[in-house]
Amino acid sequence: MNSSFQNILNLLQQLQLSDAEKSALEKAVKDADKQYEIINFKLDRTEKVKRTTAILLEETIQELELKRKAIEESNDALQKSLEELKAAQAQLIQSEKMASLGELTAGIAHEIQNPLNFVNNFSEVSNELIDEMKEELEKGNYDDAKEIADDVKQNLEKINHHGKRADAIVKGMLQHSRTSSGQKEMTDINALCDEYLRLSYHGLRAKEKSFNAKFETDFDASLSKINVAPQDIGRVILNLINNAFYAVNERKKINESGYEPTIWVSTKRVNDKIEISVKDNGTGIPEKIKEKIFQPFFTTKPTGSGTGLGLSLSYDIVKSHGGEIKVESKENEGTEFIISLPVV
Ligand SMILES: Nc1ncnc2c1ncn2[C@@H]1O[C@H](COP(=O)(O)OP(=O)(O)OP(=O)(O)O)[C@@H](O)[C@H]1O
Ligand SMILES: [Mg+2]
Repeated sequence: MNSSFQNILNLLQQLQLSDAEKSALEKAVKDADKQYEIINFKLDRTEKVKRTTAILLEETIQELELKRKAIEESNDALQKSLEELKAAQAQLIQSEKMASLGELTAGIAHEIQNPLNFVNNFSEVSNELIDEMKEELEKGNYDDAKEIADDVKQNLEKINHHGKRADAIVKGMLQHSRTSSGQKEMTDINALCDEYLRLSYHGLRAKEKSFNAKFETDFDASLSKINVAPQDIGRVILNLINNAFYAVNERKKINESGYEPTIWVSTKRVNDKIEISVKDNGTGIPEKIKEKIFQPFFTTKPTGSGTGLGLSLSYDIVKSHGGEIKVESKENEGTEFIISLPVV
């Protein structure tokens, strides 16, 4: 019994009380003592629970800290592999460029051949003209000699013109292989379309002798130059044209009677935009893959033939110029890609 209660009991014995009163008081004190013990016991238990809870809490905190560290570590790992992926992607894009340069080589050779032929022919003719001029001079026919000199001058201008053309083609080729600086300059979109159409056509013909397709152009002569990165927009046009030629060639393989593989390249001004359309009467794009064609690496070409980066790169380039790229296609009828670029 608690000592205070014991003291009360001892005091009770010394009081002048009846037995009944004494035992009633004694019972009350004993009950109080019991209550006191129960409360004490409960208090003690609560204290113990409190302590175990604190320990458990501490453990949980430690566990959480471990988990936080683990998450941090896997975050770092994820970040690292993301960076690796980005580097790999950049490398792929560069090798894609080199591959498409390879595809272009034949077209480029063909394009250079033309001005080269002019240069050779005109210089040969000029050589002969100089001999004639000398003869006339010896004969004293100064008027004839002067006329011949005019012809030679004209020829030299032509030689210069075609030399410059070859120069521009080589420069364009070098630009194409370089990692694009994205440098914008005032660009003649019609000339760009025309150039890449020829490069694509002659490139494909050089690669596959049996390849042939008709192409038609309809360039809006009133277009003014617009400020774009020419080699980037050139890549977009080239990819669309290559895709179109590929699609008509695939359809040709089915041997439909009367099928005439054709692609159309046109430009026009629509309000404050320039629209470039590349249309073909090829295989068309099945409805179920239409939404995938702009995804990187999506391709239906046989392994090794395409990277599937063409349209995804094109999409990025057009977006970065503040433009849009749209596609309309019907299976077994054909496809039209329309790029619109803001004039300012
Ligand atoms: N004119 C088109 N006609 C039919 N299908 C097309 C046409 N253009 C694109 N596609 C479809 O979209 C897919 C993706 O085109 P994308 O240019 O991105 O890659 P790719 O041409 O397959 O490969 P790469 O451009 O690297 O050679 C093509 O594989 C093809 O299935
Ligand atoms: Mg492509």
